[in-house]
Amino acid sequence: MSDGLEDVVAAHTTLSDVDGVAGRLVIRGRSLDDLAGRMAFEEMVTLMLGGLLPGLPEGAELQAVLGAARASVFPIVLRASLPAGLSPVEALRTWTALIPDGEDAGTAVTLLAAPAVFTAAAVRRARGLEPVAPEAGLSHAADTLRMLGGDRPSAAEAAALDAYLVTVADHGLNASTFAARVVASTRAGLVSAELAGISALKGPLHGGAPGPVIDMLDAIGEPGDARAWLEAALDRGERLMGFGHRVYRVRDPRADALKAALRRLGADSARLVLAEAVEQAALAILRERKPNRPLETNVEFYTALLLEALGFPPEAFTCVFAMGRTIGWLAHAQEQIAGGRLIRPQSVYVGPRPMQAA
Ligand code: CMC
Repeated sequence: MSDGLEDVVAAHTTLSDVDGVAGRLVIRGRSLDDLAGRMAFEEMVTLMLGGLLPGLPEGAELQAVLGAARASVFPIVLRASLPAGLSPVEALRTWTALIPDGEDAGTAVTLLAAPAVFTAAAVRRARGLEPVAPEAGLSHAADTLRMLGGDRPSAAEAAALDAYLVTVADHGLNASTFAARVVASTRAGLVSAELAGISALKGPLHGGAPGPVIDMLDAIGEPGDARAWLEAALDRGERLMGFGHRVYRVRDPRADALKAALRRLGADSARLVLAEAVEQAALAILRERKPNRPLETNVEFYTALLLEALGFPPEAFTCVFAMGRTIGWLAHAQEQIAGGRLIRPQSVYVGPRPMQAA
């Protein structure tokens, strides 16, 4: 038995490899440094799903098919009214559940396209604004930002979102990918696998961490106040969001990929100075307090800063994570469907036994 399934191997995969000691991420045979900031969402879809999903178009055709799929799901946000008080990620999950299930390339393309439409509409809904219809001819990243803010983004902004989506596309057997593989293994369909992924991603220990990173930066306010604030948070028994990882014992390579994207975007330098001061203080305090457990910066810390700079509100960060990670969920689901068996582990019963008859 392994608590939290730590170190348990549950799949053979050709998709990605996380080396937690060297701090390296390999996706389909290529290093993260060779991918982030160098390719668009559409190219990452081809890299991850090419050969796994028969009938999936590539290149300009894929961009056109994704654009058409964004347009095809847009009526869902117009027709399906939501109860008040749903968070953006709950809205994303609810609207996604209205897509008919299947295991074919068409269903996969719809699922790759839909989170952009649903995320932008959920953010605008929370702001009391009407949703903006997709413009099918734009790249996926550019249209996402246009649907969010109403205007076409700059090339630099679209490139920054592409860098983010590529960086988070896949990451071994993380909790949401495992959840998606479990559901795919029952042959329930790709929409069901996607819903399992979104649900697992939503938690603050997984994809829900970057929103609280912004809360932390806002509460600290000034670089000089970082240490005292962080010490007090740890004294209250809280975890510092954006630090620590189940697999990495060194700095998460995705943190640097996103910091580089933030610099290329030329984002607010005062915010970056504050973030760097908080990061350095947090790492020093965690080293003092947990000398036996290396706790380093993870992907979520610079995710928060990059998505904030692109105009996403903190409560929607998990939805944007889902936009990118959908590539990985679908690729893993396909791999599971193609070669895997039903995932059905055992548990050890430690409850009471029935009384023996005398
Ligand atoms: N702040 C303070 N202490 C921490 C933190 C943290 N961020 N992370 C781990 N610890 C401590 C923890 O309290 C425990 O100490 P002790 O042994 O004295 O009780 C020790 O480190 C080991 O923690 P664990 O819970 O056994 O480690 P885990 O592998 O189960 O947790 C984690 C991994 C990511 C859930 C955890 O590091 C965490 O809660 N981090 C903050 C949330 C966060 O940033 N999540 C995003 C993860 S990266 C995105 C993704 O890939 O999902």
